[in-house]
Amino acid sequence: MSLTLPPEGRQAAAPTSQLRTKVTMPALAGMKREGKPITALTAYDYATSRLVDEAGIDLILVGDSLAMVVLGHDNTLAVTVDEMLHHTRAVRRAVRRSLVVADMPFGSYHGKISEGVANAVRFVKEAGAEAVKIEGPRVELVRALVDAEIPVVGHLGLTPQSVHRMGGYRVQAKTIEAATQLRLDAAALAEAGAGALVLEGVPREVAAAITAELEIPVIGIGAGPDCDGQILVFHDILNMTFAPHAKFVRQYADVSAVIRTAVEQYREDVEQRAFPTDEESYHLPASKRANAEAALVSKA
Ligand code: KIV
Repeated sequence: MSLTLPPEGRQAAAPTSQLRTKVTMPALAGMKREGKPITALTAYDYATSRLVDEAGIDLILVGDSLAMVVLGHDNTLAVTVDEMLHHTRAVRRAVRRSLVVADMPFGSYHGKISEGVANAVRFVKEAGAEAVKIEGPRVELVRALVDAEIPVVGHLGLTPQSVHRMGGYRVQAKTIEAATQLRLDAAALAEAGAGALVLEGVPREVAAAITAELEIPVIGIGAGPDCDGQILVFHDILNMTFAPHAKFVRQYADVSAVIRTAVEQYREDVEQRAFPTDEESYHLPASKRANAEAALVSKA
């Protein structure tokens, strides 16, 4: 058992999330128009989403990167719709202010458009997502999702669900031809109604040009500082991935070291009978203690 105050019962000094208004898809567009940087981070469970929300991050992506950083797969391909729904629900329960975006997993939108829409509806209806993210220039699907009242975040450049086609995780759009195609794809997604675009693993100059061209917000990851916002993977910025991090990741804390030290200390305390102490134990009322101790000893 562990006690968790529901978000309504938050009592500490008002967290940043309570001091600001709810982030919506139109609000993101407004931030772009006003030149305000959009902050985004992935999160996958109640506790961490709550911290991310309370820290004032604008957009929380329940990324399919959870396949790797939470579930331990080698890439993002194995995670299922049901697993993504399970995590999106947990995030939804924690978040009050951030925009919650759910990543559609590999295979859930690659067949018929109607299947993609049906799966996206599940994220909104069953898990409380406020938008879905899909990888690649799937213009017809974006149109169908928008028709179904589901806001869409596109994702172009290095799209991890295409790892086998790309032959690994490589920076994309490094030639003029590839950069031109990327610009066309980005414009087509925006024209189809995508509300924002994640651009991953592309040269700074290409991302800057696309950001300047599009009216919708462009959120970069490994795409340089000129995008309208930035997103990173929660576990990357906290050193919780057990792998060397990519060039574009900035590590803000070493949470692995904090957890290791705390858990080792706990193990030592239990082994040395230093935990729990008498203060950490429950007691019978003093008036009943002597009698009860005598009774318990005599029965033993
Ligand atoms: O799944 C994910 O974490 C993502 C981000 C890298 C944008 O798609």
